[in-house]
Amino acid sequence: MLHATIIGTGSYVPSNVMTNEDLTKLVETSDEWIVSRTGIKERRISTGEKTSDLAYEAAYRALQSSGRKATDIDLIICATITPDYFMPSVACMVQGKLGAGRAAAYDLTAACTGFVFALVTAAQFIETGMYTNVLVIGADTNSKILDWKDRSTCVLFGDGAGAVVLSASEEKKGIIAADLTSDGSKHSILVSPAVPLSNPYIQDEIESFNPSIRMQGQEVFKFAVRIVLENIEAVLKKADLKAEDIKYIVPHQANRRIIEHVAKCSGIPLEKFYINLDRYGNTSSGTIGIALVEMLQDNMLQPGDKIIMVGFGGGMTSGAVLLEWN
Ligand code: UT7
Repeated sequence: MLHATIIGTGSYVPSNVMTNEDLTKLVETSDEWIVSRTGIKERRISTGEKTSDLAYEAAYRALQSSGRKATDIDLIICATITPDYFMPSVACMVQGKLGAGRAAAYDLTAACTGFVFALVTAAQFIETGMYTNVLVIGADTNSKILDWKDRSTCVLFGDGAGAVVLSASEEKKGIIAADLTSDGSKHSILVSPAVPLSNPYIQDEIESFNPSIRMQGQEVFKFAVRIVLENIEAVLKKADLKAEDIKYIVPHQANRRIIEHVAKCSGIPLEKFYINLDRYGNTSSGTIGIALVEMLQDNMLQPGDKIIMVGFGGGMTSGAVLLEWN
């Protein structure tokens, strides 16, 4: 059987840093509130780069580190909720800019779980033998769908992108187990509206159109802590492994308190959870790919290490991937 292994990683964030102090000039908030309730100290906010720009930079770096050429790539999947256009997809824009031959390219929408959904989707193409090299990107410019007057959301998010190149291997390593779940009955607790219906028969909704994120924070929090635990347990069970066998958990970076809660309830020491949300906030589809790059830079991952990447987000969606590093 073929297995999907990560052979390259890349990330990119805009250079512009927005601190909690900067936010106090926009909304009634404080560094103390943001740090104590979320753990976030600063985030990167685009001053002009679009999602496709962030995605391209992360993808280019992932490709460089993989040693593959752009024309070796068979498929590009970009997870995003903030594409430049409804059409073309961000993935197609990256495909063209990279010069990735005739690689298929499309976007996938699973909000902050997008990177995990995209990884698992890519792995299916590899495991079935249809494709050998797949580029997976998670990229979002959340800053364009924030209401900068709403302190309950604008302090949480940032812009950024992460990418990996997955490649087929005959050895049993790479992605070992995955668990993807959705609960559409909760779709209204985390929403960014799209263009409303407007045609010769209906016009009125366009007046109130506002794509800004609306969130019932505590409901999302409750969903997250429950489902992340479930997803971690599910992949451990599928892989017939125990929490002690796992070197690191790479969680979606939304709120430090969510991660602490999951650590406490799972009995997995907090030190095993990689956390960088203090510097980037919630970059949505970008978080896990950005974290992977930093972990590699810090020499944290060695061949044979088993890690779990786990995310949750709008939809509501959630999912985990258990992977043996190679
Ligand atoms: O990828 C998925 C993305 N979303 C999430 O993961 C969100 C999950 N939820 C959370 O992270 C938390 O629920 C929040 C960080 C969003 C909020 O924290 P909380 O402890 O649930 O606070 P709260 O919503 O209960 O609000 C407590 C108070 C309220 O004031 P009152 O009603 O008690 O007077 C809020 O108005 O804090 C107020 N508040 C703020 N104060 C200062 C809300 N936002 C802010 C702010 N600065 N930025």
